[in-house]
Amino acid sequence: MVQAEVSKVRGLGLSELAPRVVQSEIRAMTVESDRVGGVNLAQGVCDTEVPQVVAEGAIAAIHEGHNIYTRLDGIARLRRAIAEKTEHMQDLVVDPEREVLVTSGATGAFHAVAMALFDPGDEVLLFEPFYGYHVGTLRSLRVVPVAVELEGPQWSVDLERVRAAITSKTRAIVVNTPSNPAGKVFTRHELEGLAEIAREFDLFVLTDEIYEHFIYGDAKHVSPAAIDGMRERTIVMSGYSKTFSVTGWRIGYVIADAKWIGAIGYFHDLLYVCAPSPFQHGVAAGIERLGRTFYAGLAMEHETKREMLVSALSDAGMTPHVPDGAYYILASTAGLGGVLSGDTAAQRARSLLAKTGVAAVAGSAFFRAGKGEDLLRFCFAKKDEDLADACRRLRALR
Ligand SMILES: Cc1ncc(COP(=O)(O)O)c(C=O)c1O
Repeated sequence: MVQAEVSKVRGLGLSELAPRVVQSEIRAMTVESDRVGGVNLAQGVCDTEVPQVVAEGAIAAIHEGHNIYTRLDGIARLRRAIAEKTEHMQDLVVDPEREVLVTSGATGAFHAVAMALFDPGDEVLLFEPFYGYHVGTLRSLRVVPVAVELEGPQWSVDLERVRAAITSKTRAIVVNTPSNPAGKVFTRHELEGLAEIAREFDLFVLTDEIYEHFIYGDAKHVSPAAIDGMRERTIVMSGYSKTFSVTGWRIGYVIADAKWIGAIGYFHDLLYVCAPSPFQHGVAAGIERLGRTFYAGLAMEHETKREMLVSALSDAGMTPHVPDGAYYILASTAGLGGVLSGDTAAQRARSLLAKTGVAAVAGSAFFRAGKGEDLLRFCFAKKDEDLADACRRLRALR
C-alpha cells in the first residue's frame, strides 16, 4: 500500500460494537458489594455445597490422567449420562452419539448455537424481563434481539404479542424456563401456543433450561422439545453450574437434532475446543449417582430459601414477585417511599447496599431502556447463614 492509502486505514481502536457494550450491572454490583464487605445477593454465584460424589469424581479424574483435550463434543460417559437423565426425567429419547454436545457452560452453548444458526441482521424474539447474556450474545454476533413483554404479575405469555413481533427476518424464539430473573416456569399450554407459532413461521425455539431442577410448589418443568412435533426445531441448552453448584467448572450441554449439532459443535470447538476434561468426569459421576431424591431435595432446599427471602423482603416494605422456579426474586421498591434514594433502579440498588450491606441488581438490567426501574433482583442461592444475615439486614431497613 502506498502512504496516501495507508493514512486512510482505521488504525487502532475498538470495533463499532465495543463502546456500546456496558459492564453488566450484575458484575458492577458484585464489585461494589466486595468493596464494602456486603452480602452479595446480586450474582447467581450459587455458593451452596458441591455434592461430594461430583467433587471426588473430578479429583479422581485429575489423578487418573484425564487432563488433556476431550473429543469436541465431550466424553462419551457424560453424553450418555445426559441422554439417560433426559430420557428418565423428561421422557425425551436422545442419541448420545449424535444429538448431545457438551459445551463450556450454557453460556458457551448459547454462543455456539447462535453462531451456527443465525446471520447478522436476523431477528430473534426473547421474553422480557430477559437474561442479559442472551441479548448481549446475540448483539455480539450482530443478530437483532427483539423483546416481547411478559404480562406481570404472573409473567404470562401473550401469543398475540409474539405474533405481532414476527417479521420476515425472524429466525427464532428464545425461551428460558424456569427463567432468570422472573422465575417464570412456562406452562405446557403456553409452550404449545409457542410451538404452533414456531411451526407456522418456521422458526427455531432455543430453550435455556439451566434452572430445570429449581421448581417450586405446583409448577412443572416442561421442555419445548417435549411438545409434539417440536424436536427438530428445538435446541435445548442446559448445564450443571447451578444443579451441582459448580459455576466455575463450565460444564453445559446442547441437545438438538443431529443435523444442527455438527455446525454447533464446530463453533464450540473454535471458541473453547472442549469443556474442561476432569470436570466432565465429575459431572458424569454426579448424574450417574444422584437420582430423583437429590433433585427433589435441591428444589425443597431452595423453596425454603425462597420463603426466607420473600418474607424478609415483604417485612422490609418491598413487594416481591414470588417465583415458581430458578432462584431469584424480583421485588418492587415502589412502596418504600423515600427509604431508598435515587430515581433509577441502579441508584436504588446502591442506596440499598449503603444502608443494609445487601447487594441486589437493578431490575432495569433485565428490560429495555426505561423499564424495570422500580425493581430489584435478589438471588437466594446462598448458604443459610449468609441468607439469614441478608434477611436480618433487609428487615432493618424499616
Ligand atoms: C438463564 C441463564 N442461563 C445461563 C446461565 C449461565 O450458565 P453457565 O454457567 O452454564 O454458563 C445463567 C447464569 O446465571 C442463567 O441465569
